[in-house]
Amino acid sequence: KKLAVFVSGGGSNFKSVHEACIQGSVHGDVVAVVTNRKGCGGAEYARNKEIPVVLFPRTKDEPDGLSPRDLVAALREFEVDFILLAGYLKLIPAELVQAYPKRILNIHPALLPAFGGKGYYGMKVHKAVIASGARYSGPTIHFVDEHYDTGLIIAQRVVPVLANDTAEELAARVLREEHRLYVEVTAALCEERIIWREDGVPLIRSRE
Ligand code: GRF
Repeated sequence: KKLAVFVSGGGSNFKSVHEACIQGSVHGDVVAVVTNRKGCGGAEYARNKEIPVVLFPRTKDEPDGLSPRDLVAALREFEVDFILLAGYLKLIPAELVQAYPKRILNIHPALLPAFGGKGYYGMKVHKAVIASGARYSGPTIHFVDEHYDTGLIIAQRVVPVLANDTAEELAARVLREEHRLYVEVTAALCEERIIWREDGVPLIRSRE
């Protein structure tokens, strides 16, 4: 399957999925990277691997960025099957959600629906988790809808919050699990092992 990965930051989730594609544990191929920050680590990594980088969205500061309609056209041109958001911080426009229904995934570094939504990104998430006194956190992978962090949950992994954790320590513990979980879910996605429970909840079927 052909994948497009959206990044705004360091891109460590993108790297782990890309490596899994190369190594064969994910039956996928990253054919394009989309970014709102062309200088970010993820975009840099893509250029090093000779993966085309697309700038999105168009803004005052980035007049070369694509409009939503041109982005959909570009993704069609690349014959993209699935889109993975990996630390992409902008809202996905309705046009794109509708063009790829149940084909766009996001990873969030907390157990949704807690600690999600606009404003919960980066270290803010981990700070809020620690401040709440929650004993557990961990990544959530969900389908993307028109809002921040509200799409159907596909998979979650639990990570302990330890006494005296800093946000950075918790972030690092969650990120290690993010890398594993995103690879597992992307492998399932590419093998069409995401199935639907009667009540509409997506589940991952294990390999036969
Ligand atoms: C991850 O914690 C991801 O869950 C969040 O942003 C971070 C991105 O890390 N949305 P990276 O760019 O994949 O290294």
